[in-house]
Amino acid sequence: MTKAHIHDPIFDNIQIANLNIKNRIFRAATSETAAEKNGDVSDSLIEFYSEIAKGQPGLIFTGHMFVESEGQYAPFQTGITPQNDLLRLKKLVRAVHKFNVPVIAELSHCGSQTMMNNIITKSPSVLPNLIYGNQPRELNEKEIKNLIDRFKISAALAMSAGFDGIHIHGGNGYLISQFSSPITNTREDGWGGNEKNRDQFFLGVYKAIRKEIGPNRFLSARVGIRDVQSNGLSVEEGIARVKKLESCGLNSIEPTYNLMNTYKDNIKPFAGNDIIKSLTSGTFLFDGFKIRAHKEGYYSELCESLSLSGVTIPKILVGGIRTTNFMRKILDEKKADFFALSRPFIREPELVNKIKKGYIKKVACVSCNMCFKHEGFHQTQCWRNNINKIAKHLIFTLKHSLNN
Ligand SMILES: Cc1cc2nc3c(=O)[nH]c(=O)nc-3n(C[C@H](O)[C@H](O)[C@H](O)COP(=O)(O)O)c2cc1C
Ligand code: SF4
Repeated sequence: MTKAHIHDPIFDNIQIANLNIKNRIFRAATSETAAEKNGDVSDSLIEFYSEIAKGQPGLIFTGHMFVESEGQYAPFQTGITPQNDLLRLKKLVRAVHKFNVPVIAELSHCGSQTMMNNIITKSPSVLPNLIYGNQPRELNEKEIKNLIDRFKISAALAMSAGFDGIHIHGGNGYLISQFSSPITNTREDGWGGNEKNRDQFFLGVYKAIRKEIGPNRFLSARVGIRDVQSNGLSVEEGIARVKKLESCGLNSIEPTYNLMNTYKDNIKPFAGNDIIKSLTSGTFLFDGFKIRAHKEGYYSELCESLSLSGVTIPKILVGGIRTTNFMRKILDEKKADFFALSRPFIREPELVNKIKKGYIKKVACVSCNMCFKHEGFHQTQCWRNNINKIAKHLIFTLKHSLNN
């Protein structure tokens, strides 16, 4: 990180919809897998969010919360359904608001992409999930409408709990992605078969939530702009979908991949690392000699192509952002308006305050993905910040065969 300039655009005050944002560095949605078994907010989850809010990010996106129990992606994921304890969700929001930071609920349904082995998964079509191999059953028309309703009910619960807005998880392979992609949506009814029909689920979810929360509340989305697979969703179709959402009043867009072959496609190992850092951090001891790291801000081309195609709503760049120099360059080039960071906040929840105070070093996170490998097993945390944790991680890795 580099020292703050006299007028530092990173620390601009910005109003979007109902939000007053104090800086452009957001905490990206990061699942915590720290809830109770039924998805209720736990004390440790509240503590976890308190720590992040204390660090003063411009805004916090929660980890994705399931909108029905059959949409649960991982054990200990937070749920936001009528069966979950609303008072606990309220308590979480209050803990964040105490630090005057807006908190946005990310809503999601896993479709066929889940670690839960007690769920018979459902998806637009019966293709086995590309990451987990789960064999879904095909949703019928009534169930599809019911699922749109589930998103709406969860949005209403989020408003009652005091969240400042909603972020729809429409990327990275989950249910909305499955409707958006021609690979996983081979339906021939009104929900698939062509671009317009593949839009219908995402637009249906968006419109139902918008109607529920009103025109002035912040409503944004992480949108899968293209599939990793070359025969899948094209950038052109992905951008056209964003434009439709924009014309219905979407407040902000965070572009990402749609379907993926592995989570590493989105959570890229060693992103933003340089050779020196890879060597000195001992990265190679744990993950092979991978000093050829992924570049910083690896979705910046997707963000740029949205601007070039005439999308004017604020763009949130996520993925491997590691320096304020890079952020300022992106702002100068008008490629994005906000920056969402995930792994750096796991390691340093107080990061934004540190930058404000003149922090000039690189972020401590080396993007090794050890934290991601524990998803669903342990609460999200940095596993390489002390020797005991590294030892525990190695034992854990030996015990579990991990694909991602
Ligand atoms: C442990 C972990 C959990 C994640 N959970 C979510 C999630 O709940 N929702 C989401 O949209 N992205 C999730 N992501 C992806 C991040 O938001 C982000 O896109 C990705 O990590 C790249 O950003 P980074 O390089 O700043 O980590 C998760 C990432 C990690 C490492
Ligand atoms: S384990 Fe720690 S260093 Fe590695 S990616 Fe996660 S937060 Fe960063």
